[in-house]
Amino acid sequence: MQFNDKTIFVGGAGSSAPGWSIGKASCVVLARLGARIVAVDRSLDAAEDAAREVRKAGGTALPLQADVADASAMAGAVAQATRKYGGIDVYIANAGIGKMGGVAETDPTDLHHIHQVNVQSLLIGSKLIIPAMLKRGGGSIVTVSSIAGIRYVGYPHLAYSVTKAAVIHFTRMLAQEYAEQGIRANTVVPGLIDTPRIQANVARAYSESASADAMRAARNQQVPMRRMGSAWEVANAIAFLASDGASYITGTELVVDGGITGKFN
Ligand SMILES: NC(=O)c1ccc[n+]([C@@H]2O[C@H](COP(=O)([O-])OP(=O)(O)OC[C@H]3O[C@@H](n4cnc5c(N)ncnc54)[C@H](O)[C@@H]3O)[C@@H](O)[C@H]2O)c1
Repeated sequence: MQFNDKTIFVGGAGSSAPGWSIGKASCVVLARLGARIVAVDRSLDAAEDAAREVRKAGGTALPLQADVADASAMAGAVAQATRKYGGIDVYIANAGIGKMGGVAETDPTDLHHIHQVNVQSLLIGSKLIIPAMLKRGGGSIVTVSSIAGIRYVGYPHLAYSVTKAAVIHFTRMLAQEYAEQGIRANTVVPGLIDTPRIQANVARAYSESASADAMRAARNQQVPMRRMGSAWEVANAIAFLASDGASYITGTELVVDGGITGKFN
C-alpha cells in the first residue's frame, strides 16, 4: 500500500462537525502512504481543515471548495488539481448525505436532492476524472456506500438507503466498463461508525431525548464486536482498495462493519 507520487482526489474530504470523519481520516492515511491529496468539500473550511491535518502528518494537500453534485464546480476543481499535480490517479467518492424518515416523511424533492449528492455526483466525478486517469495509464476509484444500502438498519432512512444501494451498483458498472483500460472501481460499505455527524443526525432515531450518550451506547451494543467502528478503520479499507495492494480486485464491495450485517437481528 504505497502511493508515492500519486495524486488522490477526495470528494467530501472534510468533516461536518469537529472530529474525525471518514473523508478527513482517509486524507491523512493516504498522505502517510505518500499520496498528494486534493481535498474537495462543499465547505472551504472543511477542505482546509483536512488539508491542515495532511500537512501536520507531513503530506501535501490542495484544499478546494466544490459541491460534488455541481458539474461546473467539479470541472473547476479537477482542472485545478491536474494543473497543479499533472493528473489524477485515484478518486475517492466519499461525500454523502441523508434524511431520516420513510415513505411518509420523504418528499420527492428530498429524494431528488439526496440522489444528486450521493449518486449523480458519481457520474459527474467519473466523467471528469476518468479521462485524467486514462492519460496516466489507469487508476482506481473507491466509492463510499453504507450498510443501509444493503440492509434495513432498524429505523427508516429511505432516501439515504436507496441511494447508497445505487452507489454500489454504479461502481460495479464502472468497474466493468473500464477494467480493460486499467481502472479499478470498488465500494467500501461502512457499518455503524462513530463520526461527528452521527451525533447530530442519528441520535433521534435511538432515543426521544436524542441523547448522544444513549445513541452511542445503543449503537455499540448492536454490533457483534460491541463497539462502533472508527473513521480510521474505514479509511484503512479505502486505502487498501485504492492501492496496488488490491490490484486484482474490481467491481466488488468491502464491508467494514464489525460483523453487524452477518447477524440475525
Ligand atoms: N458515519 C457513519 O456511521 C457512516 C456509516 C456508513 C456510511 N457512511 C458514509 O461515509 C461517508 C462519510 O461520512 P461521515 O460520517 O464521515 O460524514 P461527514 O458528514 O462528517 O463528512 C462528509 C463531508 O462531506 C462533505 N459534503 C457533503 N455533501 C457534499 C457535497 N455535496 N459536495 C462536497 N462535499 C460534501 C461535508 O461537508 C463533510 O465535510 C458518507 O458518504 C456517509 O454516508 C457513514
